[in-house]
Amino acid sequence: MNSPLSGKTAIVTGASSGIGRATALALSETGAAVVLFARRRAKLDELATHIASRGGKAMAVAGDAGVSADIDAMLEHVLDWKEGGGKYDIVVANAGRGLAGSLTAGDESQWQEVLQTNILGVAHLLRRSGAYFAQRKSGDLVVLGSVVGRNVSPFSALYGASKFAVGALTESIRREVCPHGVRVSLVMPGIVLSEFQAVAGLNEENFFKNIASFGQLLEPKDIASGIQWLLTLPAHVNVNEIMIRPTGQPFP
Ligand SMILES: NC(=O)c1ccc[n+]([C@@H]2O[C@H](COP(=O)([O-])OP(=O)(O)OC[C@H]3O[C@@H](n4cnc5c(N)ncnc54)[C@H](OP(=O)(O)O)[C@@H]3O)[C@@H](O)[C@H]2O)c1
Repeated sequence: MNSPLSGKTAIVTGASSGIGRATALALSETGAAVVLFARRRAKLDELATHIASRGGKAMAVAGDAGVSADIDAMLEHVLDWKEGGGKYDIVVANAGRGLAGSLTAGDESQWQEVLQTNILGVAHLLRRSGAYFAQRKSGDLVVLGSVVGRNVSPFSALYGASKFAVGALTESIRREVCPHGVRVSLVMPGIVLSEFQAVAGLNEENFFKNIASFGQLLEPKDIASGIQWLLTLPAHVNVNEIMIRPTGQPFP
């Protein structure tokens, strides 16, 4: 087995589905002990059992990525987790949700949850783990942005704005902690088929018919492979940003 991450402990938020689940599996297969964080405990437990059946180490911690106290409790659990060495080396800030719709047509009642999860929760996790890594003089922060966090899409206005903020937070923490030997990477996926579309309210009418010409879309493991790659580069090499689209996706 190829185990370049052996001895490292990786926290993956949003590990119950999609990109987070695939990333936790990929990092486990590369030797890392993985901490699985999301709200749906049953799905995390199922994944932890699956990883253990393949000889890996995993711990499931249920909580809300938009609630600072839940993040703090999870980080405390990690420091108490003996199998993980009582420390962590990698944080993948992946938990997040989309929201279909323009500013005038989108559902305003969901704005608060999008901003809480995608911006404030990520900011708190980066604040806590960034300070921890800076003090340890090593660590990896990987943050999930989006192509709509770099290119304005009027069709997912609030969500896109949240991902612009995520990009700014990521570059901000990078400048703060890179002098302490901490790597920071912003991963910006294009369209990935996952639970994301249903949660965001993207359907045939408002989404899929418009992208019918894009060809084969991405699977979560396509993004996980990119994350696995950048985390296994030599410690002095930091891929600061990576955009991964389906080959046939011209925009956004
Ligand atoms: N799919 C795409 O096309 C795409 C494109 C660009 C960027 N992204 C970004 O990639 C990330 C992962 O998306 P995905 O495609 O894998 O979506 P997904 O399949 O819907 O998975 C989202 C994950 O985030 C977790 N999550 C959501 N809200 C949470 C909360 N408040 N607290 C804790 N966990 C929460 C979900 O777990 P629970 O429901 O169990 O809590 C789930 O594990 C997101 O940040 C998304 O914005 C996705």
